[in-house]
Amino acid sequence: MNETCTLFCIFGTNNKNVGQQTPYRLLTNFPPERGKIETINILRAANKATAALAELKGIGKTLPNQLMLINAIVLKEAKGSSEIENIITTHDELYKALAINSLNTTLATKEVVNYRKAMFTGFDFVKQQGFLRFGDILLIQQELTGNNAGIRTMPGTVLKNDLTGETVYTPPQDKQEILDLLSGFIDYFNTPSTEISPLINLAILHHQFESIHPFYDGNGRTGRILNILYLILNGLMEIPILYLSSYIIENKPDYYKLLNLTNKHDDWEDWILYMLKAVEVTSLQTIEKISAIKNLLGKTIEKVQVESPKIYRKELVELLFEQPYSKIEFVVNQLKVERKAASRYLQELERIGVLESQKVGRETLYINKELFELLKK
Ligand SMILES: Nc1ncnc2c1ncn2[C@@H]1O[C@H](COP(=O)(O)OP(=O)(O)O)[C@@H](O)[C@H]1O
Ligand SMILES: [Mg+2]
Repeated sequence: MNETCTLFCIFGTNNKNVGQQTPYRLLTNFPPERGKIETINILRAANKATAALAELKGIGKTLPNQLMLINAIVLKEAKGSSEIENIITTHDELYKALAINSLNTTLATKEVVNYRKAMFTGFDFVKQQGFLRFGDILLIQQELTGNNAGIRTMPGTVLKNDLTGETVYTPPQDKQEILDLLSGFIDYFNTPSTEISPLINLAILHHQFESIHPFYDGNGRTGRILNILYLILNGLMEIPILYLSSYIIENKPDYYKLLNLTNKHDDWEDWILYMLKAVEVTSLQTIEKISAIKNLLGKTIEKVQVESPKIYRKELVELLFEQPYSKIEFVVNQLKVERKAASRYLQELERIGVLESQKVGRETLYINKELFELLKK
């Protein structure tokens, strides 16, 4: 049972008060006919979203240290995508959990850290293989939820409106049917998107995945990881740097409403337009975020060069941007220096106001405050 949901709860039990008992639309009818998914409005919106995403791809490459960017954006996406499912944590707790492995954190924070790990697992698969297999998707969902329940085998999972208790959607219940649908989904996912715009395909694939709802839990989050991986598979991004979930958080009622209406009426336009807008808006927002990070990095490099020339090293400053919390160990590992030197560097950076130290348990963490504020925004 999912205790964290408020708007929609997925119940793993049979419910007498089931309104509608099968998916509304025939899920084997996938992809939908082209007339439904390539209307003039959709094609126009797809062009705009494609242009914004292409700009993001270009700008992503201009950052000197790609890890810096990946870390920052993947974590935001992990946090945001979990927040859609009412798994709420704070930036502070998250970053601390990443810096200190043994930290006692809340369940929500652990789940977001798992999400991030699952995203990287998927990213590795896509990079190494150029496609995703059934088992890869299972592994992503398993890492994410921390359980190995796998594909649903027991009937009874329905999507409910938590406020009214009404069943809004019933996904397929039969295991073989779920497996067959998932296999069709995976084939389409791995087929290079050449004829139809990959962004239109992204929208219909996400809808199809959520409608199959193959797992007891983690369907929303796994589906949103697949979205990012699909963009990478199709060459629209090289690294996972789109914070797509921010649009969904801001427009959450529409997300649920359109997922549902599309199923009900098999009318795709509004859903696809929603997802295209999400790609466009979040691409532009991410571009802004990257240029703000770049500016801050440049400013910080200059400051250290001028105020602490003796300890200045480009790699040292870049390290402070890989994640907002640093510690001696990170500097030792990355710069291959003695603990004593690493400690001296961090203290000096604190003296000139680039870092601020904080005791957490036995550890001293050094926070890049300006970066932290920027990422939090
Ligand atoms: N009417 C609907 N039809 C199809 N999918 C839906 C519908 N309403 C919600 N969803 C999807 O179900 C997800 C929630 O499923 P769940 O398995 O609980 O995922 P998670 O554990 O990641 O929260 C939502 O994020 C959304 O993507
Ligand atoms: Mg859930």
